[in-house]
Amino acid sequence: MLHHDSPAPSPHDADWWRQAVVYQVYPRSFADSDGDGIGDIPGVTSRLPYLARLGVDAVWLSPFYPSQLADGGYDVADYRDVDPRLGTLDDFDRMVAEADRLGLRIMVDIVPNHSSDRHVWFQEALAAPPGSAARERYVFRDGRGPDGGLPPTDWPSSFGGPAWTRVPDGQWYLHLYAPEQPDFNWDNPEVREDFHRTLRFWSDRGVAGFRVDVAHGLAKDLRAPLRDLGERRSYQPAALPVDGSHPLWDRDEVHEIYRGWRQVFDAYDPPRFAVAEAWVGTSRRSAYAAADGLGQAFNFDFLGTPLSAAEMHATIDTALADARRAGATSTWVLSNHDVVRHVSRYALPGDFTKQDIEAWLLTDGTEPAPDPAAGVRKARAAALLMLALPGSAYVYQGEELGLPEVAGLDRADLRDPMWVRSGGRVKGRDGCRVPLPWTSEGASFGFGPGGSWLPQPADWGRYAADGQLGDEDSFLELYREALRLRRTLVVDEELEWAGPRERTRQGLLHFTRAGGWHTVSNLSDEPVPMPPGEVLIASGPLTGDALAPWTTAWLRTERAPGR
Ligand code: NOJ
Repeated sequence: MLHHDSPAPSPHDADWWRQAVVYQVYPRSFADSDGDGIGDIPGVTSRLPYLARLGVDAVWLSPFYPSQLADGGYDVADYRDVDPRLGTLDDFDRMVAEADRLGLRIMVDIVPNHSSDRHVWFQEALAAPPGSAARERYVFRDGRGPDGGLPPTDWPSSFGGPAWTRVPDGQWYLHLYAPEQPDFNWDNPEVREDFHRTLRFWSDRGVAGFRVDVAHGLAKDLRAPLRDLGERRSYQPAALPVDGSHPLWDRDEVHEIYRGWRQVFDAYDPPRFAVAEAWVGTSRRSAYAAADGLGQAFNFDFLGTPLSAAEMHATIDTALADARRAGATSTWVLSNHDVVRHVSRYALPGDFTKQDIEAWLLTDGTEPAPDPAAGVRKARAAALLMLALPGSAYVYQGEELGLPEVAGLDRADLRDPMWVRSGGRVKGRDGCRVPLPWTSEGASFGFGPGGSWLPQPADWGRYAADGQLGDEDSFLELYREALRLRRTLVVDEELEWAGPRERTRQGLLHFTRAGGWHTVSNLSDEPVPMPPGEVLIASGPLTGDALAPWTTAWLRTERAPGR
Protein backbone atom coordinates (compact mmCIF):
# COMPACT_ATOMS: atom_id res chain seq x y z
CA MET A 1 0.00 0.00 0.00
CA LEU A 2 1.36 3.35 -0.97
CA HIS A 3 0.10 6.58 0.46
CA HIS A 4 0.80 8.67 -2.59
CA ASP A 5 -1.59 10.23 -5.04
CA SER A 6 1.42 10.85 -7.23
CA PRO A 7 3.62 8.11 -8.70
CA ALA A 8 5.50 5.85 -6.30
CA PRO A 9 8.82 7.35 -5.20
CA SER A 10 11.86 5.75 -6.70
CA PRO A 11 13.88 3.99 -4.01
CA HIS A 12 16.96 5.32 -5.82
CA ASP A 13 15.93 8.96 -5.77
CA ALA A 14 18.96 10.74 -4.32
CA ASP A 15 17.02 13.98 -3.83
CA TRP A 16 14.05 12.60 -1.93
CA TRP A 17 14.92 14.68 1.15
CA ARG A 18 14.98 18.09 -0.54
CA GLN A 19 11.31 18.77 0.05
CA ALA A 20 10.40 15.89 2.28
CA VAL A 21 8.04 16.01 5.23
CA VAL A 22 9.81 14.23 8.05
CA TYR A 23 7.89 13.07 11.11
CA GLN A 24 9.83 12.95 14.36
CA VAL A 25 9.07 10.01 16.62
CA TYR A 26 10.20 10.18 20.23
CA PRO A 27 10.09 6.39 20.61
CA ARG A 28 9.50 6.10 24.34
CA SER A 29 6.42 8.30 24.03
CA PHE A 30 4.94 7.19 20.73
CA ALA A 31 3.30 3.75 21.07
CA ASP A 32 3.82 0.98 23.59
CA SER A 33 3.20 -2.56 22.35
CA ASP A 34 3.85 -4.54 25.52
CA GLY A 35 2.23 -2.51 28.28
CA ASP A 36 5.37 -1.63 30.26
CA GLY A 37 4.52 2.07 29.92
CA ILE A 38 7.45 2.76 27.57
CA GLY A 39 6.94 3.18 23.85
CA ASP A 40 8.87 0.71 21.72
CA ILE A 41 9.88 -0.27 18.20
CA PRO A 42 7.00 -2.73 17.59
CA GLY A 43 4.75 0.13 18.73
CA VAL A 44 6.24 2.36 16.02
CA THR A 45 5.76 -0.38 13.43
CA SER A 46 2.12 -0.78 14.39
CA ARG A 47 1.51 2.92 13.78
CA LEU A 48 3.37 3.26 10.48
CA PRO A 49 0.11 2.90 8.50
CA TYR A 50 -1.16 5.96 10.39
CA LEU A 51 1.94 7.90 9.34
CA ALA A 52 1.55 6.74 5.76
CA ARG A 53 -2.05 7.93 5.78
CA LEU A 54 -0.95 11.20 7.31
CA GLY A 55 1.20 11.58 4.22
CA VAL A 56 4.71 12.10 5.51
CA ASP A 57 7.74 10.97 3.53
CA ALA A 58 10.09 9.87 6.27
CA VAL A 59 10.16 9.05 9.95
CA TRP A 60 13.06 10.16 12.14
CA LEU A 61 13.43 8.23 15.36
CA SER A 62 15.01 9.92 18.35
CA PRO A 63 17.41 7.55 20.14
CA PHE A 64 16.15 4.01 20.83
CA TYR A 65 19.56 2.65 21.79
CA PRO A 66 20.44 1.06 25.13
CA SER A 67 20.53 3.91 27.61
CA GLN A 68 20.09 4.58 31.28
CA LEU A 69 17.93 7.56 30.26
CA ALA A 70 19.98 10.17 32.04
CA ASP A 71 19.01 12.43 29.12
CA GLY A 72 15.99 10.78 27.52
CA GLY A 73 18.13 8.38 25.47
CA TYR A 74 20.67 10.98 24.29
CA ASP A 75 23.07 9.11 26.55
CA VAL A 76 23.86 6.11 24.36
CA ALA A 77 25.45 3.00 25.88
CA ASP A 78 25.67 1.06 22.61
CA TYR A 79 25.35 2.74 19.22
CA ARG A 80 24.66 -0.48 17.36
CA ASP A 81 21.81 -2.02 19.29
CA VAL A 82 18.23 -1.44 20.44
CA ASP A 83 17.40 -0.85 24.10
CA PRO A 84 15.92 -4.19 25.27
CA ARG A 85 12.98 -2.26 26.75
CA LEU A 86 12.24 -1.00 23.23
CA GLY A 87 12.79 -4.23 21.31
CA THR A 88 15.48 -5.99 19.35
CA LEU A 89 17.41 -5.50 16.14
CA ASP A 90 14.97 -7.92 14.52
CA ASP A 91 12.14 -5.61 15.56
CA PHE A 92 14.07 -2.76 14.00
CA ASP A 93 14.47 -4.68 10.73
CA ARG A 94 10.76 -5.48 10.70
CA MET A 95 10.00 -1.79 11.19
CA VAL A 96 12.21 -0.84 8.22
CA ALA A 97 10.58 -3.52 6.06
CA GLU A 98 7.10 -2.27 6.95
CA ALA A 99 8.14 1.32 6.28
CA ASP A 100 9.47 0.24 2.92
CA ARG A 101 6.20 -1.44 2.07
CA LEU A 102 4.35 1.76 2.90
CA GLY A 103 6.69 4.01 0.94
CA LEU A 104 8.15 5.63 4.08
CA ARG A 105 11.83 6.17 4.79
CA ILE A 106 13.43 5.70 8.20
CA MET A 107 16.00 8.08 9.69
CA VAL A 108 17.82 7.55 12.97
CA ASP A 109 19.43 9.88 15.45
CA ILE A 110 23.22 9.74 15.80
CA VAL A 111 24.69 11.14 19.01
CA PRO A 112 28.40 11.63 18.31
CA ASN A 113 29.40 14.34 20.77
CA HIS A 114 29.09 12.15 23.85
CA SER A 115 28.22 8.61 24.89
CA SER A 116 26.63 7.33 28.05
CA ASP A 117 28.94 6.72 30.98
CA ARG A 118 27.71 3.11 30.72
CA HIS A 119 29.30 2.77 27.28
CA VAL A 120 31.91 0.02 27.35
CA TRP A 121 34.59 2.51 26.27
CA PHE A 122 33.88 4.81 29.17
CA GLN A 123 33.85 1.91 31.60
CA GLU A 124 37.25 0.89 30.20
CA ALA A 125 38.46 4.47 30.57
CA LEU A 126 37.45 4.56 34.23
CA ALA A 127 39.27 1.30 34.89
CA ALA A 128 42.40 2.43 33.03
CA PRO A 129 45.07 4.75 34.42
CA PRO A 130 45.58 8.41 33.47
CA GLY A 131 47.32 8.76 30.14
CA SER A 132 46.10 5.36 28.88
CA ALA A 133 44.73 4.76 25.40
CA ALA A 134 41.31 4.03 26.94
CA ARG A 135 41.19 7.53 28.46
CA GLU A 136 42.24 9.06 25.13
CA ARG A 137 38.84 8.21 23.64
CA TYR A 138 37.30 10.77 25.99
CA VAL A 139 38.60 14.01 27.47
CA PHE A 140 40.36 13.36 30.78
CA ARG A 141 42.54 16.04 32.34
CA ASP A 142 44.19 16.79 35.66
CA GLY A 143 42.50 19.43 37.76
CA ARG A 144 43.83 22.78 38.86
CA GLY A 145 44.87 23.92 42.31
CA PRO A 146 47.53 22.37 44.53
CA ASP A 147 45.81 18.98 44.81
CA GLY A 148 44.07 19.14 41.43
CA GLY A 149 40.79 19.60 43.25
CA LEU A 150 39.51 22.33 40.94
CA PRO A 151 38.05 21.59 37.48
CA PRO A 152 40.55 21.99 34.62
CA THR A 153 38.60 24.96 33.18
CA ASP A 154 35.56 27.13 33.86
CA TRP A 155 33.52 25.46 31.10
CA PRO A 156 29.84 25.07 32.07
CA SER A 157 27.62 22.13 31.23
CA SER A 158 24.69 23.03 28.96
CA PHE A 159 22.41 21.57 31.61
CA GLY A 160 23.86 23.68 34.44
CA GLY A 161 26.83 23.19 36.76
CA PRO A 162 30.43 22.58 35.65
CA ALA A 163 31.26 20.55 32.54
CA TRP A 164 33.81 18.47 34.47
CA THR A 165 33.38 15.59 36.91
CA ARG A 166 36.17 14.11 38.99
CA VAL A 167 36.90 10.38 39.04
CA PRO A 168 38.32 8.51 42.05
CA ASP A 169 41.96 8.68 40.91
CA GLY A 170 41.73 12.47 40.84
CA GLN A 171 41.42 13.17 37.10
CA TRP A 172 38.44 14.99 35.64
CA TYR A 173 36.45 14.17 32.50
CA LEU A 174 34.57 16.55 30.24
CA HIS A 175 30.80 16.47 29.70
CA LEU A 176 29.17 19.39 27.95
CA TYR A 177 25.82 17.91 29.01
CA ALA A 178 25.03 15.68 32.03
CA PRO A 179 27.83 13.91 33.96
CA GLU A 180 26.40 10.66 32.56
CA GLN A 181 27.27 11.96 29.06
CA PRO A 182 31.09 12.05 28.73
CA ASP A 183 32.32 13.87 25.61
CA PHE A 184 34.29 11.92 23.03
CA ASN A 185 37.72 13.02 21.92
CA TRP A 186 37.25 13.49 18.19
CA ASP A 187 40.98 14.01 17.67
CA ASN A 188 41.28 10.27 18.24
CA PRO A 189 41.11 8.28 14.97
CA GLU A 190 39.58 5.34 16.83
CA VAL A 191 36.53 7.48 17.66
CA ARG A 192 36.23 8.54 14.02
CA GLU A 193 36.47 4.99 12.75
CA ASP A 194 33.94 3.70 15.22
CA PHE A 195 31.35 6.24 14.09
CA HIS A 196 31.94 5.30 10.47
CA ARG A 197 31.19 1.76 11.52
CA THR A 198 27.97 2.89 13.21
CA LEU A 199 26.86 4.87 10.14
CA ARG A 200 27.45 1.79 7.98
CA PHE A 201 25.71 -0.47 10.48
CA TRP A 202 22.43 1.43 10.21
CA SER A 203 22.81 2.22 6.52
CA ASP A 204 23.23 -1.49 5.83
CA ARG A 205 19.97 -2.09 7.70
CA GLY A 206 18.14 0.16 5.24
CA VAL A 207 18.17 3.46 7.10
CA ALA A 208 17.81 6.37 4.66
CA GLY A 209 19.39 9.09 6.76
CA PHE A 210 20.61 10.47 10.03
CA ARG A 211 19.80 13.37 12.32
CA VAL A 212 23.10 14.42 13.84
CA ASP A 213 22.88 15.49 17.46
CA VAL A 214 24.99 18.46 18.62
CA ALA A 215 26.68 18.52 15.21
CA HIS A 216 28.54 21.71 16.08
CA GLY A 217 30.23 20.29 19.18
CA LEU A 218 32.53 17.50 18.05
CA ALA A 219 35.72 19.41 17.22
CA LYS A 220 37.22 21.07 20.27
CA ASP A 221 40.44 22.89 20.89
CA LEU A 222 41.96 20.50 23.41
CA ARG A 223 45.56 21.69 23.10
CA ALA A 224 47.30 22.45 26.36
CA PRO A 225 46.76 24.71 28.11
CA LEU A 226 42.97 24.52 27.83
CA ARG A 227 41.44 27.99 27.60
CA ASP A 228 38.98 29.34 30.13
CA LEU A 229 35.89 31.00 28.66
CA GLY A 230 35.73 33.85 31.14
CA GLU A 231 33.01 36.25 30.06
CA ARG A 232 32.15 34.16 27.01
CA ARG A 233 30.40 31.39 28.89
CA SER A 234 27.11 31.55 26.98
CA TYR A 235 26.58 28.74 24.47
CA GLN A 236 23.68 30.55 22.77
CA PRO A 237 24.16 30.72 18.99
CA ALA A 238 24.14 34.52 19.00
CA ALA A 239 26.95 34.56 21.57
CA LEU A 240 29.30 32.28 19.60
CA PRO A 241 32.06 33.90 17.51
CA VAL A 242 31.46 33.69 13.77
CA ASP A 243 35.08 32.89 12.92
CA GLY A 244 35.22 29.39 14.40
CA SER A 245 37.47 30.50 17.24
CA HIS A 246 35.41 29.20 20.18
CA PRO A 247 37.30 26.37 21.94
CA LEU A 248 34.20 24.16 22.14
CA TRP A 249 31.56 24.98 19.57
CA ASP A 250 31.31 25.41 15.82
CA ARG A 251 35.01 25.10 15.05
CA ASP A 252 35.93 24.92 11.38
CA GLU A 253 37.67 21.55 11.85
CA VAL A 254 34.31 19.92 12.52
CA HIS A 255 33.57 19.96 8.79
CA GLU A 256 36.50 17.70 8.08
CA ILE A 257 34.77 15.05 10.21
CA TYR A 258 31.62 15.38 8.11
CA ARG A 259 33.55 15.19 4.87
CA GLY A 260 34.61 11.76 6.10
CA TRP A 261 30.98 10.89 6.84
CA ARG A 262 29.96 12.04 3.38
CA GLN A 263 32.25 9.41 1.87
CA VAL A 264 30.45 6.79 3.92
CA PHE A 265 27.03 8.13 2.85
CA ASP A 266 27.95 8.30 -0.81
CA ALA A 267 28.96 4.66 -0.93
CA TYR A 268 25.22 3.83 -0.79
CA ASP A 269 22.52 4.04 -3.44
CA PRO A 270 20.83 6.37 -2.89
CA PRO A 271 23.43 8.21 -0.83
CA ARG A 272 22.47 8.39 2.81
CA PHE A 273 21.12 11.72 3.93
CA ALA A 274 21.92 13.71 7.08
CA VAL A 275 20.59 16.78 8.82
CA ALA A 276 22.67 18.66 11.35
CA GLU A 277 21.39 19.80 14.69
CA ALA A 278 23.75 22.74 14.99
CA TRP A 279 22.86 25.62 17.27
CA VAL A 280 25.05 28.14 15.49
CA GLY A 281 24.64 31.67 14.21
CA THR A 282 22.69 31.87 10.97
CA SER A 283 25.73 32.79 8.89
CA ARG A 284 27.51 29.63 10.03
CA ARG A 285 24.70 27.22 9.28
CA SER A 286 25.29 26.62 5.59
CA ALA A 287 28.68 25.01 6.22
CA TYR A 288 26.91 22.11 7.94
CA ALA A 289 24.53 21.77 5.00
CA ALA A 290 27.32 21.64 2.39
CA ALA A 291 27.06 18.95 -0.25
CA ASP A 292 30.40 17.49 0.85
CA GLY A 293 29.22 17.62 4.47
CA LEU A 294 25.99 16.54 6.12
CA GLY A 295 23.76 17.96 3.37
CA GLN A 296 21.12 19.78 5.41
CA ALA A 297 20.98 21.72 8.68
CA PHE A 298 18.11 22.52 11.01
CA ASN A 299 16.90 26.06 10.84
CA PHE A 300 15.70 26.81 14.34
CA ASP A 301 15.28 30.51 13.57
CA PHE A 302 11.82 29.72 12.19
CA LEU A 303 10.79 28.10 15.48
CA GLY A 304 12.09 31.11 17.42
CA THR A 305 10.53 33.79 15.20
CA PRO A 306 7.38 35.41 16.54
CA LEU A 307 4.34 34.91 14.36
CA SER A 308 4.62 38.31 12.75
CA ALA A 309 4.55 38.80 9.00
CA ALA A 310 7.55 41.14 8.89
CA GLU A 311 9.71 38.94 11.09
CA MET A 312 8.70 35.71 9.37
CA HIS A 313 9.40 37.32 6.00
CA ALA A 314 12.94 38.13 7.09
CA THR A 315 13.56 34.71 8.67
CA ILE A 316 12.29 32.89 5.60
CA ASP A 317 14.40 34.99 3.24
CA THR A 318 17.54 34.40 5.26
CA ALA A 319 16.93 30.68 5.57
CA LEU A 320 16.30 30.26 1.87
CA ALA A 321 19.39 32.24 0.91
CA ASP A 322 21.42 30.30 3.40
CA ALA A 323 20.31 26.91 2.15
CA ARG A 324 20.82 27.98 -1.46
CA ARG A 325 24.40 28.94 -0.64
CA ALA A 326 25.03 25.40 0.51
CA GLY A 327 23.23 23.81 -2.44
CA ALA A 328 20.79 22.39 0.09
CA THR A 329 17.17 23.10 0.95
CA SER A 330 16.04 24.75 4.13
CA THR A 331 14.27 23.00 6.95
CA TRP A 332 11.24 24.28 8.81
CA VAL A 333 10.55 23.25 12.37
CA LEU A 334 7.83 24.46 14.73
CA SER A 335 8.28 21.93 17.52
CA ASN A 336 10.54 19.11 18.64
CA HIS A 337 11.30 17.18 21.81
CA ASP A 338 13.39 20.05 23.21
CA VAL A 339 10.93 22.95 23.12
CA VAL A 340 7.52 23.89 24.47
CA ARG A 341 4.89 22.74 21.99
CA HIS A 342 3.94 25.57 19.66
CA VAL A 343 0.17 25.40 20.31
CA SER A 344 1.06 26.46 23.85
CA ARG A 345 3.76 28.95 22.85
CA TYR A 346 1.32 30.71 20.57
CA ALA A 347 -1.22 30.87 23.40
CA LEU A 348 1.15 33.20 25.26
CA PRO A 349 1.87 36.86 24.54
CA GLY A 350 3.64 37.30 21.20
CA ASP A 351 6.68 39.03 22.63
CA PHE A 352 7.50 36.21 25.06
CA THR A 353 11.17 35.23 25.07
CA LYS A 354 12.62 31.81 25.79
CA GLN A 355 13.23 32.97 29.37
CA ASP A 356 9.63 34.13 29.73
CA ILE A 357 8.43 30.74 28.55
CA GLU A 358 10.70 28.98 31.06
CA ALA A 359 9.31 31.19 33.82
CA TRP A 360 5.78 30.35 32.67
CA LEU A 361 6.55 26.61 32.93
CA LEU A 362 7.69 27.14 36.50
CA THR A 363 4.18 28.42 37.28
CA ASP A 364 2.86 25.12 35.83
CA GLY A 365 1.53 27.04 32.88
CA THR A 366 -0.78 29.30 34.85
CA GLU A 367 0.95 32.71 34.91
CA PRO A 368 0.06 34.31 32.60
CA ALA A 369 -3.08 32.35 31.78
CA PRO A 370 -2.71 31.08 28.22
CA ASP A 371 -5.33 31.78 25.56
CA PRO A 372 -5.82 28.25 24.17
CA ALA A 373 -8.14 29.32 21.34
CA ALA A 374 -5.54 31.81 20.10
CA GLY A 375 -2.86 29.11 20.39
CA VAL A 376 -4.85 26.71 18.24
CA ARG A 377 -5.71 29.33 15.65
CA LYS A 378 -2.14 30.50 15.32
CA ALA A 379 -0.70 26.98 15.31
CA ARG A 380 -3.01 26.01 12.45
CA ALA A 381 -2.03 29.12 10.51
CA ALA A 382 1.66 28.45 11.17
CA ALA A 383 1.33 24.82 10.06
CA LEU A 384 -0.09 25.77 6.66
CA LEU A 385 2.59 28.44 6.31
CA MET A 386 5.35 25.95 7.11
CA LEU A 387 4.01 23.28 4.80
CA ALA A 388 3.86 25.73 1.89
CA LEU A 389 7.51 26.77 2.11
CA PRO A 390 10.14 25.31 -0.20
CA GLY A 391 12.32 22.79 1.61
CA SER A 392 11.75 20.10 4.21
CA ALA A 393 9.23 20.33 7.02
CA TYR A 394 9.91 18.47 10.26
CA VAL A 395 6.74 17.58 12.16
CA TYR A 396 7.07 16.55 15.81
CA GLN A 397 4.85 13.69 16.95
CA GLY A 398 1.52 14.98 18.23
CA GLU A 399 1.76 18.35 16.55
CA GLU A 400 -0.61 16.97 13.91
CA LEU A 401 -3.07 16.39 16.78
CA GLY A 402 -2.65 19.93 18.08
CA LEU A 403 -1.23 18.63 21.35
CA PRO A 404 -0.46 21.33 23.88
CA GLU A 405 2.46 21.34 26.29
CA VAL A 406 1.73 19.49 29.54
CA ALA A 407 2.91 22.41 31.60
CA GLY A 408 1.48 21.21 34.90
CA LEU A 409 3.55 18.04 35.35
CA ASP A 410 4.23 17.35 38.95
CA ARG A 411 7.80 18.07 40.01
CA ALA A 412 8.11 14.52 41.32
CA ASP A 413 7.42 13.17 37.81
CA LEU A 414 10.05 15.23 35.99
CA ARG A 415 12.81 13.22 34.28
CA ASP A 416 14.68 15.88 32.35
CA PRO A 417 18.20 16.36 33.79
CA MET A 418 17.72 20.11 33.30
CA TRP A 419 15.33 20.18 36.23
CA VAL A 420 17.77 18.80 38.78
CA ARG A 421 20.94 20.27 37.30
CA SER A 422 19.51 23.77 37.16
CA GLY A 423 18.62 23.49 40.83
CA GLY A 424 14.93 23.78 39.99
CA ARG A 425 15.32 26.95 37.93
CA VAL A 426 14.38 25.25 34.64
CA LYS A 427 11.45 22.85 34.61
CA GLY A 428 12.70 21.20 31.44
CA ARG A 429 11.38 19.38 28.43
CA ASP A 430 9.16 16.63 29.82
CA GLY A 431 5.98 18.56 29.04
CA CYS A 432 6.40 18.00 25.30
CA ARG A 433 7.32 14.33 25.75
CA VAL A 434 4.12 13.03 27.34
CA PRO A 435 2.98 9.83 25.56
CA LEU A 436 0.55 10.32 22.69
CA PRO A 437 -3.21 9.81 22.94
CA TRP A 438 -4.34 7.46 20.19
CA THR A 439 -7.84 6.71 21.46
CA SER A 440 -10.33 8.92 23.27
CA GLU A 441 -10.67 6.34 26.03
CA GLY A 442 -9.04 3.20 27.35
CA ALA A 443 -5.73 2.38 28.99
CA SER A 444 -3.27 5.27 28.56
CA PHE A 445 -5.53 6.63 25.79
CA GLY A 446 -4.35 3.93 23.43
CA PHE A 447 -0.65 4.61 23.98
CA GLY A 448 -0.41 1.03 25.14
CA PRO A 449 -2.17 -1.67 27.12
CA GLY A 450 -0.59 -0.44 30.37
CA GLY A 451 0.25 2.93 31.88
CA SER A 452 2.56 5.62 30.60
CA TRP A 453 6.03 6.56 31.87
CA LEU A 454 5.02 10.22 32.15
CA PRO A 455 1.49 10.87 33.39
CA GLN A 456 -1.00 11.92 30.72
CA PRO A 457 -3.47 14.65 31.69
CA ALA A 458 -7.02 13.51 32.43
CA ASP A 459 -8.39 15.29 29.35
CA TRP A 460 -5.72 13.89 26.97
CA GLY A 461 -8.40 11.84 25.19
CA ARG A 462 -9.89 14.93 23.60
CA TYR A 463 -6.80 15.19 21.38
CA ALA A 464 -6.83 11.50 20.43
CA ALA A 465 -6.12 10.56 16.85
CA ASP A 466 -9.23 8.35 16.59
CA GLY A 467 -11.54 11.24 17.47
CA GLN A 468 -9.93 13.52 14.90
CA LEU A 469 -9.83 11.15 11.94
CA GLY A 470 -12.60 12.04 9.55
CA ASP A 471 -13.49 15.28 11.33
CA GLU A 472 -12.70 17.87 8.71
CA ASP A 473 -12.29 20.65 11.26
CA SER A 474 -9.66 18.74 13.21
CA PHE A 475 -5.95 19.40 13.36
CA LEU A 476 -5.23 15.94 12.01
CA GLU A 477 -7.35 16.44 8.93
CA LEU A 478 -5.77 19.85 8.34
CA TYR A 479 -2.33 18.21 8.27
CA ARG A 480 -3.52 15.29 6.16
CA GLU A 481 -5.19 17.47 3.58
CA ALA A 482 -2.25 19.88 3.47
CA LEU A 483 0.20 17.03 2.96
CA ARG A 484 -1.99 15.50 0.27
CA LEU A 485 -2.19 18.82 -1.57
CA ARG A 486 1.51 19.50 -1.12
CA ARG A 487 2.32 16.33 -3.06
CA THR A 488 0.27 17.52 -5.99
CA LEU A 489 1.40 21.16 -5.85
CA VAL A 490 5.15 21.22 -5.33
CA VAL A 491 7.01 21.46 -8.62
CA ASP A 492 10.14 23.43 -7.77
CA GLU A 493 12.16 24.84 -4.89
CA GLU A 494 11.43 28.52 -5.40
CA LEU A 495 9.19 31.03 -3.69
CA GLU A 496 8.25 34.49 -4.91
CA TRP A 497 6.91 37.13 -2.58
CA ALA A 498 3.68 38.74 -3.71
CA GLY A 499 2.05 42.05 -2.87
CA PRO A 500 3.65 45.26 -1.64
CA ARG A 501 5.94 45.33 1.39
CA GLU A 502 3.41 47.66 2.98
CA ARG A 503 1.00 44.73 3.27
CA THR A 504 3.67 42.72 5.06
CA ARG A 505 4.01 45.47 7.62
CA GLN A 506 0.25 45.24 8.11
CA GLY A 507 0.51 41.55 8.90
CA LEU A 508 0.03 39.87 5.55
CA LEU A 509 2.49 37.26 4.31
CA HIS A 510 1.85 36.37 0.70
CA PHE A 511 3.97 34.30 -1.65
CA THR A 512 3.56 32.25 -4.76
CA ARG A 513 5.10 29.03 -5.87
CA ALA A 514 5.36 27.64 -9.36
CA GLY A 515 2.14 26.42 -10.90
CA GLY A 516 0.02 29.35 -9.72
CA TRP A 517 -0.06 28.21 -6.11
CA HIS A 518 -0.38 31.07 -3.61
CA THR A 519 -0.09 31.08 0.14
CA VAL A 520 -1.46 33.94 2.13
CA SER A 521 -1.23 34.27 5.90
CA ASN A 522 -3.04 36.95 7.83
CA LEU A 523 -0.87 37.33 10.92
CA SER A 524 -2.82 40.19 12.42
CA ASP A 525 -5.91 40.83 14.52
CA GLU A 526 -7.86 42.39 11.64
CA PRO A 527 -9.51 40.67 8.67
CA VAL A 528 -7.91 41.42 5.29
CA PRO A 529 -9.31 41.09 1.78
CA MET A 530 -8.63 37.65 0.32
CA PRO A 531 -6.52 37.72 -2.86
CA PRO A 532 -8.29 36.28 -5.91
CA GLY A 533 -8.10 32.57 -6.58
CA GLU A 534 -9.64 29.24 -5.73
CA VAL A 535 -9.12 28.37 -2.07
CA LEU A 536 -7.55 24.94 -1.80
CA ILE A 537 -7.30 24.78 1.96
CA ALA A 538 -7.56 27.23 4.85
CA SER A 539 -6.49 26.97 8.46
CA GLY A 540 -9.73 28.56 9.71
CA PRO A 541 -13.27 29.26 8.62
CA LEU A 542 -13.69 31.49 5.58
CA THR A 543 -16.21 34.27 5.68
CA GLY A 544 -17.09 36.12 2.52
CA ASP A 545 -14.15 37.75 0.76
CA ALA A 546 -12.07 38.29 3.87
CA LEU A 547 -9.20 36.31 5.28
CA ALA A 548 -9.88 36.15 9.00
CA PRO A 549 -7.23 37.14 11.57
CA TRP A 550 -4.52 34.51 12.20
CA THR A 551 -5.45 32.39 9.22
CA THR A 552 -3.47 30.91 6.32
CA ALA A 553 -5.00 29.88 3.02
CA TRP A 554 -3.58 28.21 -0.05
CA LEU A 555 -5.06 29.39 -3.32
CA ARG A 556 -4.69 28.56 -6.96
CA THR A 557 -4.92 31.11 -9.71
CA GLU A 558 -4.74 30.72 -13.45
CA ARG A 559 -1.47 29.10 -14.31
CA ALA A 560 0.69 31.85 -15.74
CA PRO A 561 3.36 30.82 -18.23
CA GLY A 562 6.49 29.82 -16.36
CA ARG A 563 4.92 30.06 -12.92
C1 NOJ B 1 20.08 17.78 21.55
C2 NOJ B 1 18.95 16.85 21.81
O1 NOJ B 1 17.89 17.17 20.96
C3 NOJ B 1 18.62 16.99 23.27
O2 NOJ B 1 17.42 16.34 23.59
C4 NOJ B 1 19.78 16.50 24.07
O3 NOJ B 1 19.53 16.75 25.44
C5 NOJ B 1 21.08 17.20 23.69
N1 NOJ B 1 21.22 17.33 22.26
C6 NOJ B 1 22.27 16.42 24.20
O4 NOJ B 1 22.41 15.22 23.49
